[in-house]
Amino acid sequence: MMKIRSLFFTFGMALVFAPQTALLAKEGSVSKVDDSRVIQQRRIELAGAPFLNANLTVDERVQDLAKRMSLDEQITYLAGTGFKSGIKIGETQPLTAYGLPAFKMTDATLGSKLTKDAILFPAYIGLAASFNTQLSNDYGRAVAEQSRADGYRILLGPGINMYRVPHNGRNFEYLGEDPYLTSRLVVAYIKAVQQAGVLATVKHFVANNSDYYRQNSNSVIDERVLRELYFPAFKAAIQEADVKAVMMAYNLINGKWAGEHPWLIQDILRKEWAFTGMVMSDWWSVFNAKETILSGLDLEMPKADMFKAENIKKLLTEKSLTPDDIKQHVINILTPIFAMGLADDINQTSPSLRNNWAEHAEIAKQLGRESLVLLKNDGVLPLDRNKVKHIAVIGNNALETIASGEGAAGFDPGKDFVTYFAAIKNSAGKHIKVEHYQQPNAAVAKADVAVVFVNVTESESRDRNFKLPPEQQQLIEKTAALNNDVVVVVSSGGAVEMPSWQNKARGVFYAWYPGTWGATAIGEAIFGDFSPSGKLPISIEQREEDSHYWGNYIEGPKALPFAEKQWLSKKKGVHHHDIHYREGVLMGYRWYDAKPVEPLYPFGFGLSYTRFSLSKAKLSSNSISADEQIEISVTVSNIGQRSGAEVVQLYVHDVTSSVLRPIKELKAFSKVFVEAGESKQVSLTIDRKALQFWHPETKAWTVEAGEFELLLGTSSQQSSSIGRISYQ
Ligand code: BGC
Repeated sequence: MMKIRSLFFTFGMALVFAPQTALLAKEGSVSKVDDSRVIQQRRIELAGAPFLNANLTVDERVQDLAKRMSLDEQITYLAGTGFKSGIKIGETQPLTAYGLPAFKMTDATLGSKLTKDAILFPAYIGLAASFNTQLSNDYGRAVAEQSRADGYRILLGPGINMYRVPHNGRNFEYLGEDPYLTSRLVVAYIKAVQQAGVLATVKHFVANNSDYYRQNSNSVIDERVLRELYFPAFKAAIQEADVKAVMMAYNLINGKWAGEHPWLIQDILRKEWAFTGMVMSDWWSVFNAKETILSGLDLEMPKADMFKAENIKKLLTEKSLTPDDIKQHVINILTPIFAMGLADDINQTSPSLRNNWAEHAEIAKQLGRESLVLLKNDGVLPLDRNKVKHIAVIGNNALETIASGEGAAGFDPGKDFVTYFAAIKNSAGKHIKVEHYQQPNAAVAKADVAVVFVNVTESESRDRNFKLPPEQQQLIEKTAALNNDVVVVVSSGGAVEMPSWQNKARGVFYAWYPGTWGATAIGEAIFGDFSPSGKLPISIEQREEDSHYWGNYIEGPKALPFAEKQWLSKKKGVHHHDIHYREGVLMGYRWYDAKPVEPLYPFGFGLSYTRFSLSKAKLSSNSISADEQIEISVTVSNIGQRSGAEVVQLYVHDVTSSVLRPIKELKAFSKVFVEAGESKQVSLTIDRKALQFWHPETKAWTVEAGEFELLLGTSSQQSSSIGRISYQ
């Protein structure tokens, strides 16, 4: 069975689980027992207590429980119970004395990591490529059901940091470069997770866009850029999906660690966005006790380092902190737990959800299909099963398929894992010879087609190179020297350098990372069993020098990939490396629109085996005021020979503005499936929010009166004006 390279983060191994004293089994008495029988017993004894009464409001119940807890109990509740490699990632403290268990957490970016026999879903970036909010909803529900089955009711996901540099070892965990796309997908995902009775945690707040020396990495970024690009998905998760938890990032933002950042935690999350859930630290990511405690952070994970009782008590004595502050943090942690029903379900597990595994596998396969982006096809694809006799499969990643990126998100894809090679073989049927070759040879020269699998490995706590590993690039070159019909399949969480090799290939797929089931899509797609419909959620640059991040990423000498070896050698005295977000709001396609340089493949782009035309675009009005909406309708016709799906994308261009704005920004999209020869009407809606920008001087969301142009199309570059609207 094939496996991903490392299943847990290496740095985690250095940490030894230090058990905390469990809370009181009886109010006022010490016990180390977190036992379901004791919990049951306590619930019987406490029957009638308001916090156990499900007919009361969450607020009434939580207030009652917090009031009963002693100050010591409250302080202990502000940190997790510790980490044990491969067994537990963290959990809240048990409140045995009150009849409440510890609530277990699991990483869940690509599936529920700690659930037994969990399905590893295709990389999250692949979900972004699907541009499909319904699929996002299905993905969220499936992951939540897999978690809940084994009693993991707090998901440490989804990750929604923006894709800013292709080097970032965590791009596979995120949803690409556009805040609107990320917001739409994540709102659908979180709603589904939480409807399934599982808390979602959006992470990592904020500007955590590379993983090179991540704990010493200082994102130097101005407020407008945060507001327009890096905040929106978090804000949408809170305000539209009612996400119950936020995890702070590892990095510093303008000189302050995210987990110790009162402006981010108190001003933005709490006051502005009215977030009432729990704010947790990333794992071992806070370093100054006083700053951390006073920042507003509720929960230190995975255990109390800064939030040790002695540190907190010192601040209480100094009166920098009041007992009410402590109680409020406890309330912030308990409120989402009660709101999601965790406090009323002592077992936490729902084994019968395992009956849904087969359906989850179908969702994973569909994700594999819809995430697949066909970047190049000069007619070599799809292959005809009646004509092709011999397919040569080349590249290690075909046989030893990397199922996902590594780190907290990755895990073993399990016994059902489908490799790319197996997928092609299964799909080809018996009469087609499908062989894997280590190196191109005479047999490869004679094959009808050669499919070369290349990949980069990504992982948290390190960044990667932009170029493919040289031996893989040589494989493409050597194969192309022997066989004219080369198709390349790239596995990666973001852009790789392509101009130096892509002219050797007649077809190129971007396949991200497939998880347990996603590779089946490649087998189907190369034979045309479905038409690819994935669209790039990122821009792919010709050269790094062309991009917005050139000179704005790691300053000074950089040796990538870089593994953060001294993970725990805390940051004191260590030089912080600054990452200047000098491109401002011109990130990704916004950059290419503004500069005289073309990307190799633009954001939103992806080919199909069929062709679509957009026609009869109509606006419901030519003007819009603050509380109005405009509906845009368009007919999508499939004018090719095969059924397929198209993603209609609407971009807004501010015709005149008092500040520099991106030329255009994605503000609506819709994915529509159309049979060959048929047409469908699509309607999109925008409102004032689609026109606004964050004014750097007035520090407010602003829409300036004037004209806005609407552009409709099938990628950020293949989109054209359908008219103007005016805003009064
Ligand atoms: C990651 C988080 C993850 C946590 C627990 C950290 O290293 O940054 O995303 O949830 O570990 O596994």
